[in-house]
Amino acid sequence: MPRLAVLGHPVAHSRSPAMQNAALAQLGLADEWRYEAIDVAPEAFEACVRALPAKGFAGANVTVPHKGVALAVAEMATEMAREIGAANTLVFAPGQTHAHNTDAGGLIAVLPSDLHGRRALVLGAGGAARAAIWALGALGAEVEVWNRTVARAQEITIEMDTQSVHIQVAESPLEIDQDAYEVIVNTTAVGLHGEDPFEHLPLRREGFRPGQVVVDMVYGDVPSTLLAAATAAGATTIDGIEILVQQGALSLQIWTGREAPVEAMRAAAYSLGDR
Ligand code: ATR
Repeated sequence: MPRLAVLGHPVAHSRSPAMQNAALAQLGLADEWRYEAIDVAPEAFEACVRALPAKGFAGANVTVPHKGVALAVAEMATEMAREIGAANTLVFAPGQTHAHNTDAGGLIAVLPSDLHGRRALVLGAGGAARAAIWALGALGAEVEVWNRTVARAQEITIEMDTQSVHIQVAESPLEIDQDAYEVIVNTTAVGLHGEDPFEHLPLRREGFRPGQVVVDMVYGDVPSTLLAAATAAGATTIDGIEILVQQGALSLQIWTGREAPVEAMRAAAYSLGDR
């Protein structure tokens, strides 16, 4: 029986096992495939990945804090994963680990398909921000990055500004013209533990508008304050669970070669919030 897993630390809160097992059941693969959560400390990550194929694992998802190392330990990686600098999906081929990044593809699946010449704002400068920048760049957007620690925004900008992705640093909160952005993506952890996003991020509660797309990659147990305000202002909103569903659907397709049952995955991922 091929096994699959999500590797993280901590990982107990992950919605991926329920979501992926629901998908496998929907595809009629539940007797053949099984998806579990494995808590791996950073120092044990590489040895764990090396041991998985012999234990019957066909692949794995990788989440915080292992996405960078996952790329480093793989013998092969897609161009997208290399450009993002992180992998969230591993495939175990005989004698080789292949690294993919489906976070960016998951975002691309839900964003407007053409953002040429449109301005996009990414809040944050961690791994999730890198995937968001790549996705927005691939759709043609002019990307600006804001981060609490300006030096990190500068680093990510220098590293990821290429011929195909144009990024600049949105340095001072005072300079941020919220109205000018077609897309705003929050990748920071703000809101996860009840913080008020309008205190910590350079956004105004009343500053959203119809026609704007607002994405909050972070999800907790309650609907995001940021997205509630954006919805109230008439903007289109996409939450972190939807991004989780989309990246998971792409990962499942890579492992099984089957089209993912997105509706079943979405139902499973959202229903966990009711617990
Ligand atoms: P990930 O890889 O998941 O994106 P990360 O590398 O830990 O995670 O990044 C977390 C992001 O949330 C960072 O951009 C961080 O800002 P700093 O670089 O200044 O630390 C941001 N963040 C976390 N708490 C924040 C807060 N209270 N206000 C503003 N930004 C915050």
